[in-house]
Amino acid sequence: MTEIHANGCLKADAEALRRIVLARRSARKFISDPIPGGILEEVLAITQRSPTGYNLQGWIAIVVTDPEIKSKLRHAAFNQRQVEEAPAVVVFASDTQIARNFESTASQAIDQGHWSESYAKYLRRIVNAVFGREFFGAANFFRWVGTRTLSLFRPMPMVPFGDAGFAGYGWKQTGLAAQTFMLAASAHGLDTCPMEGFDERWVRKAVGLPRHFSVPLMIPVGLTSELTKLSPRFPPEKTFHSNRYGTAFSGINSLRV
Ligand SMILES: Cc1cc2nc3c(=O)[nH]c(=O)nc-3n(C[C@H](O)[C@H](O)[C@H](O)COP(=O)(O)O)c2cc1C
Repeated sequence: MTEIHANGCLKADAEALRRIVLARRSARKFISDPIPGGILEEVLAITQRSPTGYNLQGWIAIVVTDPEIKSKLRHAAFNQRQVEEAPAVVVFASDTQIARNFESTASQAIDQGHWSESYAKYLRRIVNAVFGREFFGAANFFRWVGTRTLSLFRPMPMVPFGDAGFAGYGWKQTGLAAQTFMLAASAHGLDTCPMEGFDERWVRKAVGLPRHFSVPLMIPVGLTSELTKLSPRFPPEKTFHSNRYGTAFSGINSLRV
C-alpha cells in the first residue's frame, strides 16, 4: 500500500527527490535544441512556489532565448560558453526596494483569506520599519544604527542597510527560488548551471533591468552534451554540527551514486 505523509507527499517522493538532487550538476556544455514546449513553463510555475520573507516575492526571473541578448549575456559573463549555447538563460534578479511590494502581498493575502486585516496592519508596520528607505535612506541609516545598538541588550530584527544590505537580503530570497528552479528543471530531465561569474551592470543592461534590481544569479538551462561526474563534497562532519558549533553531527554518510 502507498504510504502518504501528513503533508500529502508519498514515501516514494523522498526517493524521487534524492534522484532529482543527485541528477543535478552544473553543466558547461549544452546542445542548442529548444526545450520541448510546456516544460520550461511548468518549471517556472513550480519555481514561483518558493518562499520569501513576509511573502514579499521580491525576485523576478527573465527568461532569455533571444540569440542577440544571449550573446550580450555571454560577453557580460566573461565569455562563458554555456550562456550562449543553452537554449535559454534565466536571469534571477532581486528587487532592492522590497517594501513597495507590501500592498500587493497584503491585498492578495487578505482576498484569499490568508491574513486578517489586523494582521496585515501589524505586518505593514514591521515591513515599513525594517525595509523602508524613505528620506533618501536617512531613515534606514538611523533604524540600522538603532537596532544594532539595541541588539546588544535584546534580540532585534535584522534591518538591511544600504544598497549592499538590501541586495544581500534580496539574494537570500532569490537564491531559494533559483534552487527550486534547478531542482524542478532536473526533475524534467533538464540541465542547468548556476552562475555568478558575470558583471552585474552589463547583465542589467542586456536585459533592460532598472537599477533597483540586483542580479545574484543567472542560470543557463537546456540539455547538456556532456554528462559529468558528481562533484565532491566535504565530509559531512565538517558541514553538519550538533547543537553547538564544533560538535560534529555524526552518523551521516555522503551520498554517492
Ligand atoms: C552561486 C554560484 C555561482 C556559480 N557560478 C558559476 C559560474 O559563473 N560559472 C560556472 O561555470 N559555474 C558556476 N557555479 C557552479 C559551481 O562551480 C558548482 O556548483 C560547484 O562546482 C559544484 O558542482 P555541481 O553544481 O556540479 O554540484 C556556480 C555555483 C553557484 C552555487
